[in-house]
Amino acid sequence: MIKKLGIPKEVKKDEGRISLIPQHITQFTGLADIFVETEAGLGSGFTDKDYEAAGAKIVTTARELYEVSEIICKVKEPQPEELEMLNSSHVLFGYLHLASNLSLTKTLLEKKLTGIATEMIMDGKEYPLLIPMSKIAGNLAVQKGMQFLEYSSQGKGVLLSSISGEKNSKVVVIGCGEVGKSSIHKSIQVGASVTAIDLNEDILKDLKNKYGENIRTLLSGTDEAISEIRSADLVVGAVLLPGRKPPTVITEEDIKYMEKGTVIIDVAIDQGGCVEGVSPNTHSDPFEIRNGVIVSAIANLPGAVPKTSSMELSTNLQNYVDNLLVENWFEEYKNNESLLPSLQIHKGLLLSEEVADSLSLTLSKLV
Ligand SMILES: NC(=O)c1ccc[n+]([C@@H]2O[C@H](COP(=O)([O-])OP(=O)(O)OC[C@H]3O[C@@H](n4cnc5c(N)ncnc54)[C@H](O)[C@@H]3O)[C@@H](O)[C@H]2O)c1
Repeated sequence: MIKKLGIPKEVKKDEGRISLIPQHITQFTGLADIFVETEAGLGSGFTDKDYEAAGAKIVTTARELYEVSEIICKVKEPQPEELEMLNSSHVLFGYLHLASNLSLTKTLLEKKLTGIATEMIMDGKEYPLLIPMSKIAGNLAVQKGMQFLEYSSQGKGVLLSSISGEKNSKVVVIGCGEVGKSSIHKSIQVGASVTAIDLNEDILKDLKNKYGENIRTLLSGTDEAISEIRSADLVVGAVLLPGRKPPTVITEEDIKYMEKGTVIIDVAIDQGGCVEGVSPNTHSDPFEIRNGVIVSAIANLPGAVPKTSSMELSTNLQNYVDNLLVENWFEEYKNNESLLPSLQIHKGLLLSEEVADSLSLTLSKLV
């Protein structure tokens, strides 16, 4: 039987992305009826007409979309008003970040729906749906950091860019994966002095080989690393333990030592954050000031540039949609090593070990 795939308008604050763009849905029109909520693509530059021309049917309310669709293909985790429309007949397909969200996890379990966390889909050892958003987020972390360092934001009044060839600013990046590398690259490009901190010595070696004198590399947790964090102008926290809550790498004590107007960007906030005591911000209320230090933790950084982000997201997401459109999709997911880690919730069962560990919930196994 032909599947019904619904693409809702994102309702998370300041979120303009859409999961699939028109050019990527045409391939599914013979395999599924595709429903798109009216104006869902506007933030990313796509009109209802663009979606209709690609073969989708426009529905006028979110409620109607959730009623007619079996698969809900979205970007961010469901917000309270969306949860209310989800039920046991739905397959929810999007970034879920459950390890940091006990109440969402419990609600999805109670709803007895199937929850597929797209950030956990694997290709070999990589996470193809996290990587492009991480690259964008790493870039934006520095862009936001530059803005928050301005005097009018109560920042230090430091320009990261080098003006006369001298390096007059210091950026410290903790966690040098996809986000971290993108922040490092941008910071070096503008002429800041950059320190990279990670637990993985091979990653640090590669960075040293690539950037030479332009980078200092340090192992996480060492006295030198702590001293670098405390003396930075901008600190980017970008650590990840896949599927789990991140470790705290910037403590309350570190913040006390920092100069007033220093900026910390906690990119790991989508997984719960890596700054002690951090709570989520939004693009329109982007930071809090703690002891004179600006701490910003925006869980949907790529949402700031939805045109770019939706294009990148959709390009990658389209490769994983057709697995859901076949009759025996569940069997395929169960038996596919790349897809299985993303199948986290099913009919009241919590199937992710990482989420169960992080939230102290009972892990279930599929029989
Ligand atoms: N806020 C947003 O909008 C947004 C967007 C994309 C990604 N993210 C988040 O950013 C974080 C990083 O994502 P990524 O794709 O770069 O992950 P990644 O796996 O590519 O890199 C994470 C790095 O953290 C390092 N690490 C782990 N523990 C560490 C520790 N204690 N000290 C120092 N380094 C440590 C790992 O060795 C690894 O190099 C994740 O939490 C991800 O969910 C947030």
